[in-house]
Amino acid sequence: MKIAQFSRTGFIMAAAGSAVGLGNIWKFPYMTGEYGGGAFVLVYLITIFFVGFSVMVAEMLIGALGRRDTVGSFERLAPPDKKGWKYAGFMGFNGLIIMTFYSIVIGWIFYYLFKLLETLPDSTDAAKKTFDNLVTNEAGIQIFWHTVATLIVTYIVYRGIKRGIEKINLILMPALMVILFGMLVYAFNLEGFSKAFSFMFEPDWSRLDSEAIVRAIGHSFFTLSLGMGAIMTYAASLPKNASITKTALIVTLMDTLIALVAGLVIYTFLFQEGSPPTQGPGLVFISLPVVLSNLGYLGTFLALLFFLALSFAGLTSAISLVEPVVQYFIDKFDTTRLKAVFTAGLLYYIVGIGALLSYTNRWGEVFSIGGKPLFDILEYTTDSILLPVGGLLIAIFAGYILQKERVRAALEHEMGKTFFNLWYFSIRYVAPIALVFMMLNLMGVLKI
Ligand code: TRP
Repeated sequence: MKIAQFSRTGFIMAAAGSAVGLGNIWKFPYMTGEYGGGAFVLVYLITIFFVGFSVMVAEMLIGALGRRDTVGSFERLAPPDKKGWKYAGFMGFNGLIIMTFYSIVIGWIFYYLFKLLETLPDSTDAAKKTFDNLVTNEAGIQIFWHTVATLIVTYIVYRGIKRGIEKINLILMPALMVILFGMLVYAFNLEGFSKAFSFMFEPDWSRLDSEAIVRAIGHSFFTLSLGMGAIMTYAASLPKNASITKTALIVTLMDTLIALVAGLVIYTFLFQEGSPPTQGPGLVFISLPVVLSNLGYLGTFLALLFFLALSFAGLTSAISLVEPVVQYFIDKFDTTRLKAVFTAGLLYYIVGIGALLSYTNRWGEVFSIGGKPLFDILEYTTDSILLPVGGLLIAIFAGYILQKERVRAALEHEMGKTFFNLWYFSIRYVAPIALVFMMLNLMGVLKI
């Protein structure tokens, strides 16, 4: 099976499109709020650059050398006595698990895009009512927008690497950046900006407990799209002359920059109006619209732009969550892209309905386990277990299973000797230790 190749810019935009997602604009800001600001941001930044970046290079390397779907690449690269490693490739299926809740949130964003055109809520109570009502009462509306999101995402994936994924990323990613940086310029001139800046960059260590650390590490994997084979699958279509190191660095920097910009913009608006930073997942759906409603038409315009950017970010990430399984189905069963996409789409679409119902008053109990809604279980499990385990497998494979000479031949000419040795050290020791530390801590947090 011959896999299509991205153009160089196409690959960077697609990988950045995967990384920059709801994780940056929706989740990072509210987690920063929940876990106390600066200290959480600092742990997040440290993990991104000391662990995340190395793992991204490793993941791209496996894809670029393997040139197959995730299972095929692991199998092809493993030495003859270690072919069992192909099972690591099934991490690609975690993309569908993420999609079960990711698609629901994209649906909320679509709904808001239309809703905000009418009116912005003028009080926190009103905004909270709108959001809570959508999530707890309006199963039908949510299913409708979840369906729309699924159709758009699966259609793009169905169009394939060149005509679907590359094309859409080349349009939506620049658009997203223009919108967000435009909003940053606007926010910069508001009084709330300096407060937002201190909130995000002045660490208050007293707020940093082990749960915050675990969440920061988990989120750094989520935001870079690591540990699940998304970047690996895209890298199988890496143009032959592209530098893995450089691409990984650009993607990491873009992802981090956009998360920080989104955080600054949102917190500037919040602090401008004296809203508290801790609002949980409703942060951008509740607090932000209220704040913007004070600005009249300008507010409506800003809200529209913001939710548009959010939907672009969500869509470009979603396609990277679906593509690995699709590629696997095509390679493994020699089937058509249409059938592969249909099957993958159907799988997450159905479980996704369970996830959205788990928040509703009517069906909540049926779709909860041990009092926890299915939505939360799916989200927590990916961040805290599936992605770190995937990351660990990738680090071990690149650091211990692949022959060092082969790895060196692929990377040293890009990085230089010193940097290669540092990276190799990081992938063999720093990344695995950080991930194991995180999982042990998690057991402490969960009190297992
Ligand atoms: N990184 C995306 C975000 O920040 C989500 C995402 C896309 C992802 N592909 C992934 C997360 C693969 C983990 C693994 O929203």
